[in-house]
Amino acid sequence: MSVLTDVTRSTIGKKLLNGLTGLLLCGFIVGHLAGNLLLLLGSDAFNTYAYTLHSLLHGAFVPLAEVGLVVLFTAHAISGISVALARRRARPDGYQKSANAGGKSRKSSSSTSMIITGVVLLVFVITHVAQFRGGFFAPREYADVMINGHATHNLYALVVDWFNQAPMVALYVVVMLLLGTHLRHGFWSAFQSLGAANPKYLPIIHGAGVIFAILMTVGFLMIPIYIFLFVDPVAGGTLIGG
Ligand code: HEM
Repeated sequence: MSVLTDVTRSTIGKKLLNGLTGLLLCGFIVGHLAGNLLLLLGSDAFNTYAYTLHSLLHGAFVPLAEVGLVVLFTAHAISGISVALARRRARPDGYQKSANAGGKSRKSSSSTSMIITGVVLLVFVITHVAQFRGGFFAPREYADVMINGHATHNLYALVVDWFNQAPMVALYVVVMLLLGTHLRHGFWSAFQSLGAANPKYLPIIHGAGVIFAILMTVGFLMIPIYIFLFVDPVAGGTLIGG
């Protein structure tokens, strides 16, 4: 009995952690999208934003935020996977029962899809950070641009180069759609894990989750598609190996 209670308690703790870290990551995603939308305004707007961000707290803001993000992504992934596995273990015959009831359990199929979309997003975030923050495999080398009298990295040119490549745009479109699926279910599930059980509010939370997921997906999708269709690579970079 007490073993069962411990298991239940630790699952509740992991659900709380998963919900809380998920909502904090939603906050990051909103901020990240707001900053990235400046890409649509051109080089000056986006590079000034990137320069300002990297200058905050005398340059300490970005490294501190990065430590926070690593902790958040790690805690969110580990707690999410272990809650989903515990749910499966708790009903080993769940599939059998629900199959007899005329269909697959909604809960187990949505937690399976959360694990799949979550793992894809984790792999995406790691390669994405290497691509844009680390500048790995950059199509070219870039001359610095002057922002407020300071020579600074031309991050705009790097993003524009990547999104002038059709396969990269296609990859981002697929991943952003998966992000939308993950957010739609995750938003709702996070509030439930944090105790929002009042049936009066459930439709509101559900609707808010759908709207949030659509806004984030459309916002992030617009960037690679707009750049691919309307923005030419920036002149002035040096072709790597060229
Ligand atoms: C079209 C979509 C996106 C674009 C154009 C984009 C662009 C960028 C750029 C330019 C950076 C480098 C920032 C810098 O060096 O200051 C970056 C970093 C990052 N992005 Fe994105 N991003 C997109 C989508 C996403 C999504 C969907 C996520 C998460 C699910 C994400 C997570 C991150 C993270 C964690 C970093 C590292 C932040 C840091 O180290 O400072 N990005 N992104």
